[in-house]
Amino acid sequence: MKKLLVTGGLGFIGSYFVDLALKRGFYVINVDKKTYAARTDVDFDGRDHYEFIEEDISTMTHIPPGVDYVVNFAAESHVDNSIHANEAFYNSNIGGVYNILELIRAKDETDRPILFHISTDEVYGTAHAGSFTEEDKLLPSNPYSATKAAAEQLIFGWRHTHGIKAIICRSCNNYGFGQYPEKLLAKTIEFLLNGKKMTVHGDGTYLREWIYAEDNCEGLLAVLEKGEEGQVYNISSGEEHSVMDAVRMVVEAMGMKEEDAVVHIPNRPGQDLRYSVDCSKARALGWAPKTTLKEYIPEYIRLYKEKLGIAE
Ligand SMILES: NC(=O)c1ccc[n+]([C@@H]2O[C@H](COP(=O)([O-])OP(=O)(O)OC[C@H]3O[C@@H](n4cnc5c(N)ncnc54)[C@H](O)[C@@H]3O)[C@@H](O)[C@H]2O)c1
Repeated sequence: MKKLLVTGGLGFIGSYFVDLALKRGFYVINVDKKTYAARTDVDFDGRDHYEFIEEDISTMTHIPPGVDYVVNFAAESHVDNSIHANEAFYNSNIGGVYNILELIRAKDETDRPILFHISTDEVYGTAHAGSFTEEDKLLPSNPYSATKAAAEQLIFGWRHTHGIKAIICRSCNNYGFGQYPEKLLAKTIEFLLNGKKMTVHGDGTYLREWIYAEDNCEGLLAVLEKGEEGQVYNISSGEEHSVMDAVRMVVEAMGMKEEDAVVHIPNRPGQDLRYSVDCSKARALGWAPKTTLKEYIPEYIRLYKEKLGIAE
């Protein structure tokens, strides 16, 4: 049985990953600091082959023996927050990765896990045309993506100099139940269900690629099981919608009119116009996403109503 030390496994994507990894027969040690973004509605305690450690990845002092992979989701993840106050981003997203690399380096070479690091399509910056491949250079545009790109550079340096084994996955924009309601779709559903108008930065025409968190995690596990050490893999869906179109899908699914549901606010500084990555390398491992945003939104709204105790 492979042993994974998953960091940030109480977060949005991490929680989908822990669930899937346990179902697939991995042993999971979940290390999470329980920030405001950690889910309080998931409970893996009591599941077989699962342990939880409440700890900050930037200050933890050891990695238990026998761990095959450190799967690093733990991060500050909300771009807006990174614009207003970025110390926590620096500490967790860069300092946390630095600490993990050093903890792996301190281990006996026979007991060194592979660092399986979760990065983002945002590290490439705006895709003016076409889609970025893994070979393209990193050109982050906001403090969040800058910390994610910096973490990747640490990993490359530690791998080259100290022989730390690593794989990096750069995922596109995830959606799904359990996301903290600062993120676009969770916020839209929560605001509209609470009778508030959703706020959209600028005109909302900037494009994102959308992937269901479970599809993303299936892709990550495909890379973990079949990918090559030392490689970078883009994980995406090819499903591109503007932010405004994604919000419109929710508004329409709720039977509302856009003018009653949306208010535009000044655009976010550093806004990227379009993210797009080519994920043929990951797809060559036999993985493909199964869900589309349009299909998932009614289910997303239903789950949200259930959470808020609103009758159908
Ligand atoms: N959400 C997306 O669309 C998306 C897209 C691409 C990549 N990513 C990356 O995926 C990862 C997970 O994103 P998410 O949206 O699930 O994030 P999230 O904010 O929902 O969850 C982050 C989790 O990490 C934990 N955490 C934060 N700092 C920590 C620290 N220093 N030590 C230990 N635990 C800590 C939090 O308590 C939380 O449970 C991040 O690395 C993010 O950069 C996210």
